[in-house]
Amino acid sequence: MKKAMISALPDLGYAGSEAVNTVCSNLMFSGKNIKTIVVTSCEPNDGKTFTSMQMAFNMAKRGKKVLLVDADLRLSQMNARYGIELIGSGTGMTHFLSGQCALEEALYETNIPNTFLLPIGRAVQSPLSLIATTDFSDMIQTVRQSFDFVVVDAPPVGLVIDAAEIAKCCDGSILVVTYSDTHVRALREAKQQMERTGTPILGCILNKVPLERITSKKYKYGKYGYYAYSQQHEKHE
Ligand SMILES: Nc1ncnc2c1ncn2[C@@H]1O[C@H](COP(=O)(O)OP(=O)(O)O)[C@@H](O)[C@H]1O
Ligand SMILES: [Mg+2]
Repeated sequence: MKKAMISALPDLGYAGSEAVNTVCSNLMFSGKNIKTIVVTSCEPNDGKTFTSMQMAFNMAKRGKKVLLVDADLRLSQMNARYGIELIGSGTGMTHFLSGQCALEEALYETNIPNTFLLPIGRAVQSPLSLIATTDFSDMIQTVRQSFDFVVVDAPPVGLVIDAAEIAKCCDGSILVVTYSDTHVRALREAKQQMERTGTPILGCILNKVPLERITSKKYKYGKYGYYAYSQQHEKHE
């Protein structure tokens, strides 16, 4: 298998690590059929990619074989922001979905133990023609069989329909919410859009909570606290 190096791993600090631990523990108890999870939010920069990566690493540390899927096919920042270097020809999902390579040639083993990556390949202007296809859902089903846990990092649901299309092929979705920035109305619309896919919303992650909001002294590390919760949403707005 091809290799990828992930070099810019953000340090979470104590509070952040504990919060990601809580999210992943909750996911482990979401049921054995919850293996493929799409992460989305209302807007760019809410922390979808950051959160997807942290969840992937945390699950991998627990001994799970994890695949991180970069599905922000228009505007992926994953490689640039997190120092990811693909060794070799750089083929990825768009190459596979357009018939230019086999799935094995789009998958990478990373330097983080148990963590694998499916990068975008080349950015495309109209990803829906690749995502809203049986090839895409077949691909998700195939990786679902080969990995214990698959995190799909999606574009924001408020701007384009891609995330909802991706969710249709996944077992569950997670919404990342930026503390004191995500608007309630936008969040409600995002929630409704994701609900229409028929795939359950597993919970929300409240991201970028300022440290002073986390009262306990033992949490005074790092730039942001990273508080998260996960809950079933059927009866909540
Ligand atoms: N909890 C956090 N703590 C520290 N930095 C964060 C956190 N969440 C996101 N960031 C930073 O915010 C920026 C946007 O995050 P990113 O995950 O790339 O957003 P998105 O994928 O939603 O567009 C990145 O520089 C990322 O490192
Ligand atoms: Mg992103």
